[in-house]
Amino acid sequence: MADIDAMIEQLDVILKAAVDAFAAAGDREALQQLRVRYLGKKGALTEVLKGVGKLSPEDRPVIGQHVNRTKAALAESLEQREIELAEKAKTARIEAEKADITLPGRKKTGGALHPVQLGLDEITAVFAQMGFVVAEGPEIEDEFHNFDALNIPPEHPARAMHDTFFLKDLQTNDEQPMLLRTHTSPVQIRAMKRFLAEGGEPPLAVVAPGRVYRCDYDVTHSPMFHQVEVFKVDRKVSMAHLKGVLKHFLSTYFEKDVAIRLRPHYFPFTEPSAEVDIGCVFCAGKGCRICKGSGWIEVLGSGMIHPNVLKSVGIDAQEFSGFAFGLGVERLVMLKQGIPDLRLFFENDVRFLRRMGASR
Ligand code: PHE
Repeated sequence: MADIDAMIEQLDVILKAAVDAFAAAGDREALQQLRVRYLGKKGALTEVLKGVGKLSPEDRPVIGQHVNRTKAALAESLEQREIELAEKAKTARIEAEKADITLPGRKKTGGALHPVQLGLDEITAVFAQMGFVVAEGPEIEDEFHNFDALNIPPEHPARAMHDTFFLKDLQTNDEQPMLLRTHTSPVQIRAMKRFLAEGGEPPLAVVAPGRVYRCDYDVTHSPMFHQVEVFKVDRKVSMAHLKGVLKHFLSTYFEKDVAIRLRPHYFPFTEPSAEVDIGCVFCAGKGCRICKGSGWIEVLGSGMIHPNVLKSVGIDAQEFSGFAFGLGVERLVMLKQGIPDLRLFFENDVRFLRRMGASR
């Protein structure tokens, strides 16, 4: 007969050893192995149970109770340790992922629109608010739209004055050489033709922003620059309308009441034509270096659309008249922002671009 007391003692030893081992287990895998060792099918408790058959029938239930109690104690201790380990792992993870909120942040540099683009948008918006419709035309033009239709016939000296980039390899079907448009005035022709083709009848009021090209480069000239063309065709349009629109636009753009002056000039596509000066925005007309002491600064070319131009698109010049003007965007932005050199726009110095881009 086996000794029940020895068996009970053995159970206590197992329990104690197991509890110590659980406490020493450093992670869940180690704990899992201990579960097998103590509670598994071939574990220490099973080993003890094998001896039960050798006990007397009265002792068997007694040892059964002990085994169950030990089993329960083991299971509880194991579970306790599992919770502890899970807690420990969580704390370790939080520790590892902790961010040092005292570190300085990483600054993102935001993009900004180019000052010329800002100017284009701003200028176009003033006219759009007055009801002018925005139109665009191609930068690669033919001679018809850039010159002929604008009353500049082939032998006209104005053609030579335009410093045109011709695209010798590109020709239209009727052998006209293509070119980079020298001004936005061809959009007058294209917009009027499109409008009429769609069955429109004047009034027609258009603002056409875009890139233009001239073979020229110095402090005040760049081979590529931007213009905004503005025109209106209707019955009884006069110079008074032209001047009113100009005055409103320039005062809105410069955010102050600017004086304007129309000086007689010549453009083939307008008659009469006028160059438009504004009272110098730097010296308020007193005379300074920028306005060369005159108190006036030239800002754009304008006039009443020449009857030949209206005729070239099929508008009756007896019934309708129109005004037109074209302004240089870079020039206006330079005057408004006090930028001394045109080339700054195209050198892509980020310090300049950042300052001007953010200045709005
Ligand atoms: N197209 C002219 C230029 O580029 C400007 C202009 C436009 C003048 C419309 C009169 C009317 O210089």
